[in-house]
Amino acid sequence: MSHLISKPKFRLAFFLFFVFVLVATLSAQQEQPAPKATSPAYAAIPVEAARRANPIKSSPESLARAKKWWALDCAMCHNANGDGKGSLASDMKIKLVDFTNPTTLKDRTDGEVFYIIKNGHQDMPPEGDRIKPEENWDLVNYVRSLSKGK
Ligand code: HEC
Repeated sequence: MSHLISKPKFRLAFFLFFVFVLVATLSAQQEQPAPKATSPAYAAIPVEAARRANPIKSSPESLARAKKWWALDCAMCHNANGDGKGSLASDMKIKLVDFTNPTTLKDRTDGEVFYIIKNGHQDMPPEGDRIKPEENWDLVNYVRSLSKGK
């Protein structure tokens, strides 16, 4: 076998083969799809946070309280109706999920939504202590209400 590899023709063949593998590997890497809006990074939500029960029942009062914060802190990205086409989102060229679609938050617990609102995610800034925990739960109810009647 080694006497074959030492022949110039075979060396050239080996060289071309490696170039081919290199090019194929690089182009395969480039073809990988961009990360989806709902990325696995959400898996970082601690289990205890995800399991927290929502102490605030969704009611017209809760939704009315949340509407104020939604208009102030959320609508510029998620849009007033929650479809994700807010003006800031388009300025920032970020693609947001559509809360008017009932499947969007189907697999999320209230605790997870609470955690995302409190701590932010990707390009979304955290609400942190700007709002009270009760108001954060109101927003959880509000986000869920955006797909009602669909
Ligand atoms: C600067 C733009 C921006 C603002 C302001 C913003 N968000 Fe977001 N939001 C994002 C981005 C980016 C994501 C991550 C991508 C996605 O899931 O749409 C996100 C994700 C979310 C999610 C998780 C969606 C999922 O994938 O399950 C929720 C819930 C949410 N936002 C609610 C809110 C609420 C409530 C407010 C206001 C308190 C708010 N956001 C303010 C940009 C924003």
